[in-house]
Amino acid sequence: MTILLADLLDDLREDHRNMAIMLDLLSRQVGHIRDGEKPDYELIHDIMRYMTVYSDAVHHPKEDLLYAGMQAEQPKLAQGLERVGPEHREIAELGERLRNDIEAVASGAAVTRERILADTNAYVQTLRTHMAWEEDDLFRRADELVNGEKSMFVDISHLDTLDPVFGPEREHSFANLLQNIKDLSQG
Ligand SMILES: [Fe+2]
Ligand SMILES: [Fe+2]
Repeated sequence: MTILLADLLDDLREDHRNMAIMLDLLSRQVGHIRDGEKPDYELIHDIMRYMTVYSDAVHHPKEDLLYAGMQAEQPKLAQGLERVGPEHREIAELGERLRNDIEAVASGAAVTRERILADTNAYVQTLRTHMAWEEDDLFRRADELVNGEKSMFVDISHLDTLDPVFGPEREHSFANLLQNIKDLSQG
Protein backbone atom coordinates (compact mmCIF):
# COMPACT_ATOMS: atom_id res chain seq x y z
CA MET A 1 0.00 0.00 0.00
CA THR A 2 1.31 3.41 -1.00
CA ILE A 3 0.16 6.54 0.79
CA LEU A 4 0.85 10.26 0.63
CA LEU A 5 3.65 11.35 2.91
CA ALA A 6 1.26 14.02 4.23
CA ASP A 7 -1.18 11.30 5.31
CA LEU A 8 1.63 9.31 6.91
CA LEU A 9 2.55 12.39 8.93
CA ASP A 10 -1.08 12.76 10.06
CA ASP A 11 -1.08 9.11 11.15
CA LEU A 12 2.14 9.60 13.11
CA ARG A 13 0.66 12.59 14.94
CA GLU A 14 -2.41 10.52 15.80
CA ASP A 15 -0.15 7.73 17.10
CA HIS A 16 1.53 10.29 19.34
CA ARG A 17 -1.78 11.37 20.84
CA ASN A 18 -2.50 7.70 21.62
CA MET A 19 1.00 7.03 22.96
CA ALA A 20 0.65 10.07 25.23
CA ILE A 21 -2.42 8.39 26.77
CA MET A 22 -0.32 5.27 27.42
CA LEU A 23 2.37 7.37 29.06
CA ASP A 24 -0.24 9.11 31.23
CA LEU A 25 -1.49 5.70 32.37
CA LEU A 26 2.07 4.60 33.15
CA SER A 27 2.74 7.86 35.03
CA ARG A 28 -0.27 7.16 37.24
CA GLN A 29 1.22 3.77 38.08
CA VAL A 30 4.51 5.49 38.96
CA GLY A 31 2.47 7.68 41.33
CA HIS A 32 0.90 4.60 42.97
CA ILE A 33 4.32 3.00 43.52
CA ARG A 34 5.67 6.26 44.97
CA ASP A 35 2.70 6.37 47.36
CA GLY A 36 3.54 2.87 48.54
CA GLU A 37 0.53 1.33 46.78
CA LYS A 38 0.61 -1.79 44.69
CA PRO A 39 0.78 -0.96 40.98
CA ASP A 40 -1.56 -2.57 38.48
CA TYR A 41 0.96 -4.98 36.98
CA GLU A 42 -1.52 -6.35 34.48
CA LEU A 43 -2.19 -2.87 33.14
CA ILE A 44 1.51 -2.05 32.86
CA HIS A 45 2.01 -5.32 31.00
CA ASP A 46 -0.87 -4.58 28.60
CA ILE A 47 0.54 -1.12 27.90
CA MET A 48 3.99 -2.51 27.21
CA ARG A 49 2.52 -5.22 24.99
CA TYR A 50 0.82 -2.49 22.96
CA MET A 51 4.02 -0.44 22.82
CA THR A 52 5.86 -3.50 21.50
CA VAL A 53 3.38 -4.73 18.90
CA TYR A 54 2.38 -1.30 17.64
CA SER A 55 4.72 1.56 18.63
CA ASP A 56 8.01 -0.29 18.24
CA ALA A 57 6.90 -2.50 15.34
CA VAL A 58 4.81 -0.04 13.29
CA HIS A 59 5.05 3.58 14.49
CA HIS A 60 8.82 3.85 14.69
CA PRO A 61 9.48 2.15 11.33
CA LYS A 62 6.91 4.49 9.71
CA GLU A 63 8.80 7.43 11.16
CA ASP A 64 12.02 5.98 9.80
CA LEU A 65 10.40 6.09 6.31
CA LEU A 66 9.38 9.72 6.80
CA TYR A 67 12.83 10.73 8.00
CA ALA A 68 14.52 8.84 5.17
CA GLY A 69 12.29 10.82 2.78
CA MET A 70 13.40 14.07 4.39
CA GLN A 71 17.00 13.07 4.11
CA ALA A 72 16.67 12.09 0.46
CA GLU A 73 14.56 15.03 -0.70
CA GLN A 74 15.79 17.92 1.39
CA PRO A 75 19.08 17.35 3.17
CA LYS A 76 18.78 20.79 4.77
CA LEU A 77 15.83 19.41 6.77
CA ALA A 78 17.81 16.40 7.93
CA GLN A 79 20.01 17.88 10.63
CA GLY A 80 20.22 15.61 13.69
CA LEU A 81 18.15 12.83 12.14
CA GLU A 82 20.97 10.38 12.75
CA ARG A 83 19.95 10.46 16.42
CA VAL A 84 16.53 8.96 15.68
CA GLY A 85 17.64 5.37 15.05
CA PRO A 86 19.61 5.06 18.31
CA GLU A 87 16.74 6.68 20.24
CA HIS A 88 14.20 4.23 18.78
CA ARG A 89 16.49 1.38 19.78
CA GLU A 90 16.94 2.77 23.28
CA ILE A 91 13.15 3.11 23.71
CA ALA A 92 12.65 -0.50 22.58
CA GLU A 93 15.34 -1.69 25.02
CA LEU A 94 13.89 0.25 27.95
CA GLY A 95 10.47 -1.15 27.05
CA GLU A 96 11.81 -4.68 26.98
CA ARG A 97 13.45 -4.20 30.37
CA LEU A 98 10.17 -3.03 31.89
CA ARG A 99 8.23 -5.87 30.27
CA ASN A 100 10.74 -8.36 31.64
CA ASP A 101 10.33 -6.87 35.14
CA ILE A 102 6.56 -7.30 34.99
CA GLU A 103 6.81 -10.82 33.59
CA ALA A 104 9.22 -11.69 36.40
CA VAL A 105 6.70 -10.40 38.96
CA ALA A 106 3.97 -12.50 37.29
CA SER A 107 6.13 -15.61 37.51
CA GLY A 108 6.67 -15.05 41.22
CA ALA A 109 10.25 -13.74 41.09
CA ALA A 110 11.36 -11.10 43.55
CA VAL A 111 11.54 -7.74 41.81
CA THR A 112 11.87 -4.69 44.01
CA ARG A 113 9.43 -1.81 43.76
CA GLU A 114 12.43 0.50 43.38
CA ARG A 115 13.40 -1.31 40.24
CA ILE A 116 9.88 -1.23 38.78
CA LEU A 117 9.72 2.47 39.67
CA ALA A 118 13.09 3.26 38.10
CA ASP A 119 12.40 1.27 34.93
CA THR A 120 8.88 2.65 34.44
CA ASN A 121 10.15 6.17 34.99
CA ALA A 122 13.06 5.73 32.60
CA TYR A 123 10.68 4.48 29.91
CA VAL A 124 8.16 7.30 30.39
CA GLN A 125 10.77 10.07 30.52
CA THR A 126 12.79 8.82 27.56
CA LEU A 127 9.77 8.32 25.31
CA ARG A 128 8.20 11.64 26.34
CA THR A 129 11.40 13.53 25.54
CA HIS A 130 11.73 11.74 22.20
CA MET A 131 8.10 12.43 21.22
CA ALA A 132 8.40 16.10 22.21
CA TRP A 133 11.48 16.45 19.99
CA GLU A 134 9.58 14.93 17.08
CA GLU A 135 6.46 17.02 17.58
CA ASP A 136 8.23 20.33 18.23
CA ASP A 137 10.99 19.93 15.66
CA LEU A 138 11.05 16.93 13.31
CA PHE A 139 7.34 16.81 12.41
CA ARG A 140 7.38 20.57 11.79
CA ARG A 141 10.31 20.16 9.44
CA ALA A 142 8.40 17.34 7.75
CA ASP A 143 5.46 19.75 7.28
CA GLU A 144 7.76 21.84 5.08
CA LEU A 145 8.44 18.82 2.92
CA VAL A 146 4.83 17.63 2.61
CA ASN A 147 3.58 21.17 1.97
CA GLY A 148 6.01 21.56 -0.93
CA GLU A 149 4.96 21.51 -4.56
CA LYS A 150 5.70 17.87 -5.15
CA SER A 151 3.32 15.19 -3.79
CA MET A 152 5.41 12.48 -2.25
CA PHE A 153 4.24 8.92 -1.75
CA VAL A 154 5.65 6.22 0.45
CA ASP A 155 5.17 2.45 0.39
CA ILE A 156 3.98 1.13 3.76
CA SER A 157 2.89 -2.34 2.58
CA HIS A 158 5.15 -4.02 5.13
CA LEU A 159 3.71 -1.83 7.94
CA ASP A 160 -0.03 -2.05 7.35
CA THR A 161 -0.78 -3.57 10.78
CA LEU A 162 -3.81 -1.82 12.24
CA ASP A 163 -3.58 -0.27 15.69
CA PRO A 164 -4.98 -3.02 17.97
CA VAL A 165 -6.18 -0.57 20.63
CA PHE A 166 -7.17 2.67 18.88
CA GLY A 167 -7.81 1.27 15.39
CA PRO A 168 -11.09 0.17 13.80
CA GLU A 169 -10.72 -3.42 14.97
CA ARG A 170 -9.97 -3.49 18.66
CA GLU A 171 -8.28 -6.61 19.83
CA HIS A 172 -10.20 -8.39 22.55
CA SER A 173 -7.06 -9.10 24.58
CA PHE A 174 -6.74 -5.34 25.16
CA ALA A 175 -10.21 -5.01 26.77
CA ASN A 176 -8.75 -4.19 30.21
CA LEU A 177 -6.48 -1.53 28.74
CA LEU A 178 -9.41 0.00 26.81
CA GLN A 179 -11.43 0.21 30.02
CA ASN A 180 -8.54 2.02 31.72
CA ILE A 181 -8.33 4.48 28.81
CA LYS A 182 -12.06 5.14 29.16
CA ASP A 183 -11.73 5.69 32.92
CA LEU A 184 -8.81 8.08 32.32
CA SER A 185 -10.83 10.19 29.88
CA GLN A 186 -13.72 10.36 32.35
CA GLY A 187 -11.34 11.72 34.99
FE1 LIG B 1 10.27 8.39 16.96
FE1 LIG C 1 7.14 9.08 17.29
